[in-house]
Amino acid sequence: MVIAIDGPAASGKGTLARRLAAYYGLPHLDTGLLYRAVGAIVLAQGRLQDEAAAVEAARTLDVAALDPDTLRTAELGEAASVVAARGGVRAALLDLQHRFAAQPGGAVLDGRDIGTVICPKAQAKLFVTATPEVRAERRHRELIGRGEDIAYAAVLADIRKRDERDSARAAAPLVQADDAVLLDTSALDIAQAFEAALAIVEARRRGS
Ligand code: CDP
Ligand code: CDP
Repeated sequence: MVIAIDGPAASGKGTLARRLAAYYGLPHLDTGLLYRAVGAIVLAQGRLQDEAAAVEAARTLDVAALDPDTLRTAELGEAASVVAARGGVRAALLDLQHRFAAQPGGAVLDGRDIGTVICPKAQAKLFVTATPEVRAERRHRELIGRGEDIAYAAVLADIRKRDERDSARAAAPLVQADDAVLLDTSALDIAQAFEAALAIVEARRRGS
């Protein structure tokens, strides 16, 4: 079973993906980390806007060495969204995502284009969302907890800008797949969101 989870920044898709993967005993890939890692490489080179550099970084990415702790910063979220708009970068990361999804038994992937581009035939697709304010509150709390000194207003502005860029780009824009189920987690805590997500996946497993 392949479970595809998409949605905007800090909607809770990663948390749901991890929990669903643990529940079903499936491997999980947070595809945002791939773009964050490419962003980190070109940022360190001072070449964030250089498409050729970003494509090269994507082609030679060492997936085994990805470190979520260093990649989940506000700065790298922004850098990720810049390189993710490049078609060449997305193409270079396609194969490894397809291979991950094709593992025997299945997989859970979360990102922006899993249900639309990476796994269009996934058995269960969720499009997770929440209001920008709720998402900014959650992300702000998370970043502060990780030691980043950042204001709520800056997080909200970053989320709005990133949503806009991710939705407006030509290459694999953030859009709900026709057969994805919308899950708005604005008023749900993590346990409630998980129950709702599980019910959606189970309904798909039963073929309804
Ligand atoms: O956790 P958060 O939703 O804030 O970000 P992320 O999932 O780590 O993704 C960072 C950025 O990578 C996004 O803003 C997108 O621009 C890009 N991304 C993408 O284009 N396609 C994906 N499948 C995953 C991430
Ligand atoms: O992967 P994505 O960027 O969509 O979001 P996440 O990393 O799963 O969640 C962002 C933050 O919101 C985390 O600190 C979660 O613990 C928190 N969260 C929450 O408070 N309530 C939810 N229903 C979902 C996530």
